[in-house]
Formats: sequence, structure tokens, C-alpha cells
Amino acid sequence: MSYLVRILCFVFLINSYLFSADTMNDTYDAEKIADIFYALNGDKADPHKKINHSKGFCTAGEFIPSKSLSVDVPLLKQGSINAEVRYSLGGAILDDKSKTRGMALRLLGKDNQWTMVMLNTEINFAKNPQEFGQFFEMRIPVNGKVDTKKIAKLTKEVDSYRNFEAYTSKMGISKLENTPYYSIHTFMFNKNGKTYPAKFKFIPKDGIKYLSEAELAKLDKDFLVSEFKKYVKNKPIEYDMYLVYANDGDIIDDTTALWQGDHKEEYVGTLKVEKYLGNDCNKDVFFPSDLPEGIQPPKDPLFDIRNATYGITFGRRQ
Ligand code: HEM
Repeated sequence: MSYLVRILCFVFLINSYLFSADTMNDTYDAEKIADIFYALNGDKADPHKKINHSKGFCTAGEFIPSKSLSVDVPLLKQGSINAEVRYSLGGAILDDKSKTRGMALRLLGKDNQWTMVMLNTEINFAKNPQEFGQFFEMRIPVNGKVDTKKIAKLTKEVDSYRNFEAYTSKMGISKLENTPYYSIHTFMFNKNGKTYPAKFKFIPKDGIKYLSEAELAKLDKDFLVSEFKKYVKNKPIEYDMYLVYANDGDIIDDTTALWQGDHKEEYVGTLKVEKYLGNDCNKDVFFPSDLPEGIQPPKDPLFDIRNATYGITFGRRQ
């Protein structure tokens, strides 16, 4: 091979390394991810809005713990625990006829509280801060244009993005009484002097169901709140909470890892949501690190940066 060809090959290799890897080698810390959210969803006219999961509303109810729980979590020994619930849509979506949903839940015990911040999916779209940051960064318009080619390319190339897209493509759009919520992270639960890795989930008593095209056609972009108000006139929306214990060999430090096969589950209690409280909690913040005695934080690389970012965005909107 001639010297020139060798040089050209070298330049080509360096280029493809630098540019096919795209932004994957950048360092994404909490500040940078907060900046990305502001670049993507920020609104100069409303600097006080929540910058992710912006659309939502506030409700309240109670959590009734199971009387036969095996885990050592003193909060769950209380007969009934007051609960605050914020229902939200993912990102800056404004149309309720969309799939990704959030539930922020705060159990306010007498001596302890527990904040859970969940999505309606068992996995998320990123396993580390780099993937998480890039997922949103690639959606920021450059010179007024969204680079749809780049989004399509990376969605195909990055396993976490591709798997999440395949997962959500099988979902439909549901009412709140038919939407499940999942921890996605694996937490550690105290039991008899040991700790056990488990995820948690809230399964609606009315079952997980999706709306048909005909049903959706009758609903508007704000149907979640109007349907919630209609539903709770008769009875609360109820969700049964379960711990899903990891089997030996399950991945517990990767929020994109879907556990396969049967798992031991334990019924934790029932959440009853019944009061509409308006929009005030939209300005509030829910920290997933707010754990009660008896539960330790997850070990994955997203949990700490997640909490740090919530602190930054909460601070910026004051
Ligand atoms: C499994 C992982 C995650 C889940 C289930 C999740 C879910 C949610 C939910 C439900 C909300 C709305 C909370 C509310 O109602 O106030 C939210 C807000 C937010 N999320 Fe996440 N999220 C995850 C990971 C992350 C990560 C890794 C980051 C950044 C590093 C992040 C950044 C944000 C920000 C900035 C907000 C707005 C917080 C605020 O200003 O109050 N999320 N997330």
C-alpha cells in the first residue's frame, strides 16, 4: 500500500471513529443534561414551568399497606398512609393522546416518607448518562431544523433506543385507571438483616387496557383530567402495588434490561387516588432518592445523576 493510501485510510478510520460514535464520547453531567432539557423544552415566556414531564396535574388519596408484608420497611406498618400523586405526560408533550406517562407518588407517613417517580414502561431508553443526554440532545433543532435522519440512524444503532422503541410500539394509549406504572430502577429492600433487589410496579385494578380508535376519536387532548374527574365521582382509581424480586442472574444495574421469565412477586398494598387538586404540584419536585428506612437506592449509573438533575431544574424554575 502506498504511503498516501495508508494516510487516507488512517484519516478515514479516525473520521469514522469520531463521527459514527457521534456524541457518545461526550461527558454528560447533571448540568449538561439540564441545559439540554432547557434547549429542547424551554419556553422564555414561562421560565417557571417544569422542564420535563411538563404537562401534569395533582391528585391525592391513600395507600393501604398489606398486613402480611415480609420486608422491613417501618413506613408500611402504618394502617393507611396519605398519598400525593402527580400524573404527567412524558417530555414536553401536550396531547394526552400519547403513550408515555409518568406518575410521581409521595407516601406521607407519620415518621417517614417515600417518593416514587415512575413511568408506564418497565424499561427506559438509556442505560447511562451518555445515552440519556444524547437521546434528548439529538432532538434539539439546529438552525430551526430537527435532524430526523440522525434521530433515525441513532435509534437504529443504539440498542437501548431501538429496544425502547420496539417496546413502546406494542403499547397503546390508555386512561389512568388502565395504566400501570413501573419503578424501572431496581431498589434494595431490607428483610431479616439482608437486602434483596426488587423492582416495584402499580397495576390498575381495572386492568391494563388501551383505547380503541373509535374511543380515542371521542376524546380531546386534555381527556386525562376530565376522565379522572368523572371516574372519581363514583369511586377512587385503585392500583395494587407489587415488589418483583430479582432472580439470580437478573441484571439489576441497567434500567434498559427487561427481566425475562417468572419472578417472585409480593403484594405491597393498594393505592387509592380520589381527589383532584389542580395544578399547584406542577411546580413541585419529586426526588426518587427520597426513600424511607428499610429501602436502599439502586446501583445503576442513572439514579444519582437523575436526582441531581431534578435538583438543578427545580432550582432553575424558581
Ligand atoms: C428510570 C429512569 C427515569 C424515570 C422513570 C423518570 C421519570 C420521570 C417522571 C415521572 C418525571 C415527572 C415527575 C413529576 O411529576 O414531577 C420526571 C421528571 C424529570 N426527569 Fe426523569 N425519569 C427517569 C430518568 C431521568 C434521568 C436519568 C434524568 C436526567 C439525568 C431525568 C430528568 C428529568 C427532569 C429534569 C425532570 C423534571 C424534574 C423537575 O424539574 O421537577 N429523568 N422523570
